[in-house]
Amino acid sequence: MKVILLGYMGVGKSTLGQLLAETLDLHFIDLDSYIEKMEELSISELFERKGEIYFRKAESIALEEIIAKKEDFVLSLGGGTPVYGNNMKNIIEAPGVTSVYLKLNIHHLVEKLFQQKESRPLIAHYTDKIEFEEFVRKHLFERQQFYYMADHVLDVTDKTPSKSLENLIELFNLNT
Ligand code: S3P
Repeated sequence: MKVILLGYMGVGKSTLGQLLAETLDLHFIDLDSYIEKMEELSISELFERKGEIYFRKAESIALEEIIAKKEDFVLSLGGGTPVYGNNMKNIIEAPGVTSVYLKLNIHHLVEKLFQQKESRPLIAHYTDKIEFEEFVRKHLFERQQFYYMADHVLDVTDKTPSKSLENLIELFNLNT
């Protein structure tokens, strides 16, 4: 089984991906970490030194490489991955891949992300919370059309990671 978790920054894609992989005894891949290894730079350094377009190209190459793997995996994408190039099309058309959009209520998202913005180059510069919320609302609105192309949607609002994991497994109709 190949599972791809997607959704906006801060929804918990990596945490849930790791949990799911452990539970199903599958290989876990975090796309951002994969790119960091490939490029030998952190995501922030990549944005700073090479620019976002370079990052987006590296992101698409990494995604293609992972999707082509024969072995099963759980892959957590970056928040922007589904939005660029042919990425979402490649995900949908990949044989044996199930994709899940992890959704989080906008208020929770803004609260959580505002605390964790430093490591995220697209939002690190925001100091005013109202401006930040405006950005997130608009950005999410633009991106959602791609996220909704996923095979499943899972709302993780007010759920613990273990509850989300349970729901995710129910979604796949798996017995563990
Ligand atoms: C991005 C999200 C980040 C990372 C990069 C760009 C985005 O991943 O890929 O900073 O465009 O939303 P997370 O969603 O894991 O924060």
